[in-house]
Amino acid sequence: MTRSILLISLLNILCGQILTQQISLDGTWSVINGNGSYAASATVPGGIYTDLSAAGILTQDIYYRFNDIEYRWVSKENWTYNRTFEVPESLLEKQQIFLVFYGVDTIASVYLNDQHVGDCENMFVRYAFPVKSFIQAGTNKLQVKIQSPITAAQERSDKQAVEYTVPPACLPDEYHGECHVNFLRKMQASFSWDWGPAFPSVGIWKSVVLEAFDMAVLRDVTIRIVDSQNNWILWVDLILEAESQTSQISGNFSAMLRTDKNTIEVNRQDNILANKLTPGYFNTSIALEIPKTEVELWWPNGYGNQKLYPLDVSFSDSYDTSTKSMKIGFRFIELVQDTVATGTGLTFYFKVNNVPIFAKGANWIPSHVLPEKSAEPERLEHLLESARITNMNMLRSVSTEVTQQVRHLQHHPSIAIWAGNNENEGALRDNWYGTSSDFTRYKDDYVKLYVDTIRNATWAQDISRPFVVSSPSNGLESEQEGFVAQEPGSSFYGDIHYYNYDDNGWDPNTFKTTRFSSEYGYQSLPSMSAISEVSVESDRSLETNFSQYRQHHPSGNDQMRNEINQNLQLPSGLTDTEEYPILIYFSQINQAMSYKTETEFYRRSRNLLTSDGEGLTMGALYWQLNDIWQAPTWASIEYSGKWKMVHYFAQDFFAPILVSPFVTSDGVLELHLISDKLEDLESQLTIFVYQWNSLTPIHSITSNHTVYNASVTKAFQSDLLEFLQTAGCGDAEPTKKCFLYFTLTSLDGSDISPHNFLFPQSLKDLTDFTAPTISVADISLASGTEHVFQIPT
Ligand SMILES: *[C@@H]1O[C@H](CO)[C@@H](O)[C@H](O)[C@H]1NC(C)=O
Ligand SMILES: *[C@@H]1O[C@H](CO)[C@@H](O)[C@H](O)[C@H]1NC(C)=O
Ligand SMILES: *[C@@H]1O[C@H](CO)[C@@H](O)[C@H](O)[C@H]1NC(C)=O
Ligand SMILES: *[C@@H]1O[C@H](CO)[C@@H](O)[C@H](O)[C@H]1NC(C)=O
Ligand SMILES: *[C@@H]1O[C@H](CO)[C@@H](O)[C@H](O)[C@H]1NC(C)=O
Ligand SMILES: *[C@@H]1O[C@H](CO)[C@@H](O)[C@H](O)[C@H]1NC(C)=O
Ligand SMILES: *[C@@H]1O[C@H](CO)[C@@H](O)[C@H](O)[C@H]1NC(C)=O
Ligand SMILES: *[C@@H]1O[C@H](CO)[C@@H](O)[C@H](O)[C@H]1NC(C)=O
Ligand SMILES: *[C@@H]1O[C@H](CO)[C@@H](O)[C@H](O)[C@H]1NC(C)=O
Repeated sequence: MTRSILLISLLNILCGQILTQQISLDGTWSVINGNGSYAASATVPGGIYTDLSAAGILTQDIYYRFNDIEYRWVSKENWTYNRTFEVPESLLEKQQIFLVFYGVDTIASVYLNDQHVGDCENMFVRYAFPVKSFIQAGTNKLQVKIQSPITAAQERSDKQAVEYTVPPACLPDEYHGECHVNFLRKMQASFSWDWGPAFPSVGIWKSVVLEAFDMAVLRDVTIRIVDSQNNWILWVDLILEAESQTSQISGNFSAMLRTDKNTIEVNRQDNILANKLTPGYFNTSIALEIPKTEVELWWPNGYGNQKLYPLDVSFSDSYDTSTKSMKIGFRFIELVQDTVATGTGLTFYFKVNNVPIFAKGANWIPSHVLPEKSAEPERLEHLLESARITNMNMLRSVSTEVTQQVRHLQHHPSIAIWAGNNENEGALRDNWYGTSSDFTRYKDDYVKLYVDTIRNATWAQDISRPFVVSSPSNGLESEQEGFVAQEPGSSFYGDIHYYNYDDNGWDPNTFKTTRFSSEYGYQSLPSMSAISEVSVESDRSLETNFSQYRQHHPSGNDQMRNEINQNLQLPSGLTDTEEYPILIYFSQINQAMSYKTETEFYRRSRNLLTSDGEGLTMGALYWQLNDIWQAPTWASIEYSGKWKMVHYFAQDFFAPILVSPFVTSDGVLELHLISDKLEDLESQLTIFVYQWNSLTPIHSITSNHTVYNASVTKAFQSDLLEFLQTAGCGDAEPTKKCFLYFTLTSLDGSDISPHNFLFPQSLKDLTDFTAPTISVADISLASGTEHVFQIPT
């Protein structure tokens, strides 16, 4: 350890500067429970479930069968992480020495050489403890004592309950979770959720570093970009930290942006006084003038490139240099809430670089219940790539720890908006948790937390993005109504969440018009291969304890069956075990068709504006993109990364240009051409009519249309029955005889939209099916692959 520090120092001297000296305390630690009955080697960054698995104390996959309950004891223990480390004499000559924890999960006390140096109580916050008076040359002993999150949450709840209770106390029984997680600033899903199991995690889940310097250290950098005629002014805001009694720092501050052609750099020598309100913190700004011709704008997926430029920022005093490097993009985002042209309400949409954007995408959940695993790069890359190739341009991410998180994430151009909370405005107004008897008290708390605290803290760090207090909400209208609107789900304002498991999800006439749908979805079962990873054979039917146990959404399995039954006919006379693979398949068909129908409904409503003011929909973000474990959920991508059927459908229903058919409640067939492109296109639309028993269409008609940019155009309409009768589907029950198929090509014949289809009759009502005579033979596994098959032609 000592040798490697010396080497780094030498290299830096050779390069003419000495970086702030850092000793990484990542790597191998030890961990032990309260009475010493369990001890193991531990890894930092990491977590207790991973450590105990590596040590052979937990012997099975944590997601196997009922292991969330079997292993619950782990989170009821207190765990002490410890290690020793060496410090060279030279380090002690530095004026200031900090012990920095980038993430501790969650309620913890830190001891250095048996002296208490500080406490942690928020998993998302970086803690920097000044330790110069505790540290010694030679061997030092570091201990992090972490309290059981379950007892910590209970203690805090008991204390609060003396005054009044904060809901919700416990989760629904179906979650098999733990209570009072809302008293901890911790990944809330670790106490269980409707889409995931409870593994109340414990650990040091991010890096630990000892840092030594003389003056101050550069902690965070945020940026602001201002339009100034031929230039962008890039304001780089530096936040520095020193021990709290330091009143002034001096040195050189520099910022350097590298474009493809040039390097644009500003260095400034300066003295800065400590912030009055936050002792030990210092801030200053550097302005870089970037000629507009030097940089390309950053665009959301589907609108252009996501061009990023490296920015290097540094602070040096006479002895040390500390640096931060990041990649930034030039883009401007607004949330437009203007009065609509007719009727009631305000618009609610994003403009990026002055272009209105229809937001298409999904809601992201943690990709693993253990924090140390959910950031694994391969996992993230696969999910992001799966979203990109499905034409998504927006993912919604839920809670973060305001000041630091905003500082930490602020420079990423891909973040569009900050939201104070998820669904809390609706919960308060609609009394989800029994708060109505004391509405004013809870509402005051709500405003204090989300408006006064979180919104102010966000604005202090970042005014370059819109902020909404709650999602969903009525946006500006909620603010007008004192932050808790009378009707947070209003179709005239803001965003909505829409779930409906009773009506037919394949019927577009059941959905609710909105400005922006930020959550909607239907569950499906994961594939048999996913189920097989975590079950034994006797678990594999919908009626077993296992299947009921894995379903955290109350009545979820019954709802899934009910939805399937509205459109598909399950074979009769099967045993539960025989039925199971068919249910898996049908649940995925139902999910895919329902997301398709609902998403196309939202996309078609982009230009709609009714006389009372409904319409102008500008967002469709389904719930949910990915899975945290193998269970029935709303996800389109399974835990393993495998796509469910709906994710293949998403590639089509989110396509930039889409021919979208539907039948109105009056029986009129309409065809709309949806375009997110920024230029008009000439196109040829063809409608094919097929009978269910033939691969040759019985009728087709073709017409030419302009597909207008960034809008929706009605290209065709006809009474459905008449249309089918004319096409030759018979006079009696023509909807049962035929289905429709659509293509949209450019004038040279190449597809510009995915092909689309419409079933005029629920599939379960079709009587005229002839059993197909298809035989499958000679399929073999492509050599050297696990999932690729060769089909002879
Ligand atoms: C660290 O923990 C291990 C058990 O995991 C224990 O044997 C050792 O005594 C502890 N060391 C210190 C310095 O606390
Ligand atoms: C130590 O703690 C474990 C887990 O809480 C418990 O099962 C065991 O009985 C305890 N042992 C002693 C000696 O107290
Ligand atoms: C964990 O520590 C708390 C106090 O911080 C104590 O009340 C509790 O009994 C401890 N639990 C165990 C299992 O050692
Ligand atoms: C430092 O931050 C404060 C509060 O955000 C701000 O008012 C002030 O202008 C900043 N100072 C500099 C030099 O950027
Ligand atoms: C700051 O930069 C100037 C000019 O490059 C240099 O002369 C001076 O020594 C530097 N000061 C410190 C504290 O690094
Ligand atoms: C939050 O900001 C508003 C206006 O910017 C101000 O009136 C209010 O006092 C601030 N609240 C707190 C708690 O700082
Ligand atoms: C199913 O769960 C019930 C209640 O927990 C239990 O009594 C029963 O033995 C379980 N059955 C099986 C087959 O595991
Ligand atoms: C996009 O549509 C607008 C009308 O909405 C039209 O004025 C403009 O010319 C179109 N742009 C292109 C590139 O086709
Ligand atoms: C559509 O446009 C093409 C190219 O201009 C033309 O050849 C064709 O006749 C048109 N078709 C119809 C149905 O108008």
